[in-house]
Amino acid sequence: MSATQLIVALDFPAPEPALQLARSLRGSVAWVKIGLELFLSGGQPLLESIKNMGFQIFLDLKFMDIPNTVQAATAQATRLGADMLTIHTLGGEKMCRAALAGRDNALCSGQTPPLVVGVTVLTSLGPEDLVWNNEKTKDISEFIVHLTTLAQSWKLDGVVCSGQEVRALRRVCQPEFALVTPGIRLPDAAASDQARVCTPAQAMRDGSTFLVVGRPITRATDPVIAAAQYLNVMNEPFAEE
Ligand code: C5P
Repeated sequence: MSATQLIVALDFPAPEPALQLARSLRGSVAWVKIGLELFLSGGQPLLESIKNMGFQIFLDLKFMDIPNTVQAATAQATRLGADMLTIHTLGGEKMCRAALAGRDNALCSGQTPPLVVGVTVLTSLGPEDLVWNNEKTKDISEFIVHLTTLAQSWKLDGVVCSGQEVRALRRVCQPEFALVTPGIRLPDAAASDQARVCTPAQAMRDGSTFLVVGRPITRATDPVIAAAQYLNVMNEPFAEE
């Protein structure tokens, strides 16, 4: 498996602060995440500007719709130059396979295919949200393992998962299947509203492929120094604890 990569989540309501931060991180960080809020405010021109700075783009728009619509959406994201994009695995096998077909059919010659990564169960959902026939889902983690196994069999390139799930998922996944982990914090950092956080060293030890870090970098007094702190521990994961 290739070395774990840091993705900085550019969670801003407008293009300008995102571009400013991207300019300052250019050369040290390889990947940035563009989510719903930023994409809806900056759209294609913003994505192109960030791409032209040399970043790899994780376009996290979490597609879920009928297969035909998702196929068209992943094709469009591929044409825009996304390097990784998200869909919901709960959209089912037909939708997931259509997402891959959309990606594959839209590739230009020589273009590296963007990774198509599945969201399993949103971490904001608990057993009380997943009630069926008056019964709560007892073990969400078992369901997440099941969805991940399905995602791998449908040929998705990976899943998004919390730090608490990485170890169990890595056991059922091939080494090249990407595990994309948000909620990452250095040991002394504030958790913000993330309920289940994990250190970079722990996530890497357990087998995470990409670590997604937002506010600890975007809201730091000096985001460049904050990013460097994450990159340092990622280069020497066992020195962290
Ligand atoms: O600021 P923070 O480091 O908590 O940001 C984490 C990023 O990962 C945000 O962009 C958030 O949308 C995303 N994310 C998450 N938890 C998930 C999936 C995505 O925090 N389960």
